Amino acid sequence: MTHSPILETRTLHWPDEEACGRFASALAHTPALRNANIELDGPLGAGKTTFVRHLLRALGVTGRIKSPTYAVVEPYSLSLGNGETLAVSHFDFYRFDDPREWLDAGFREIYATPGLKLAEWASKAAPQLPTPDLVLILAPLADDTRQVRAQAFTPRGIELLAATTEAA
Ligand SMILES: Nc1ncnc2c1ncn2[C@@H]1O[C@H](COP(=O)(O)OP(=O)(O)OP(=O)(O)O)[C@@H](O)[C@H]1O
Ligand SMILES: [Mg+2]
Repeated sequence: MTHSPILETRTLHWPDEEACGRFASALAHTPALRNANIELDGPLGAGKTTFVRHLLRALGVTGRIKSPTYAVVEPYSLSLGNGETLAVSHFDFYRFDDPREWLDAGFREIYATPGLKLAEWASKAAPQLPTPDLVLILAPLADDTRQVRAQAFTPRGIELLAATTEAA
């Protein structure tokens, strides 16, 4: 949720989870992802965590990828193979209801530090959150099909969208 203007919108269809995985993999391969702030929107069971799991796998995470529903955030430190590490923070704000937690739990610092931020249920922390680069709004259609509205709010978001064109 943001009041910044949308710079570009695309509507995509994922006919199955594999298509979600292809989209995630295309994103994982673009350098613009490293400092990106991506919000995932859509109802319970839409596929927000599933998308993040595919993205983290494509980035090289091999261990268990937990849904951060209770912890609010799950951090990852990924080795990029060239000596660099990538900090990833996977948020789920579904249970977030105390704005003081934003400061107390160090969320503000995370957003102020380089690294990839992925946030489910961002609307629950809307006043605190900075403008995202990209918002993916997932809508379940019949069976495994998902309609995905992709909104870019920054030049980086536009770059991310461009990188997924082949996969969409
Ligand atoms: N095209 C698709 N893309 C993503 N997930 C899909 C797709 N088709 C089926 N699924 C399934 O839908 C389910 C999505 O669950 P998931 O936990 O990712 O939802 P969520 O949006 O994170 O929900 P919550 O709001 O509870 O966190 C998974 O079981 C996944 O396998
Ligand atoms: Mg989830």
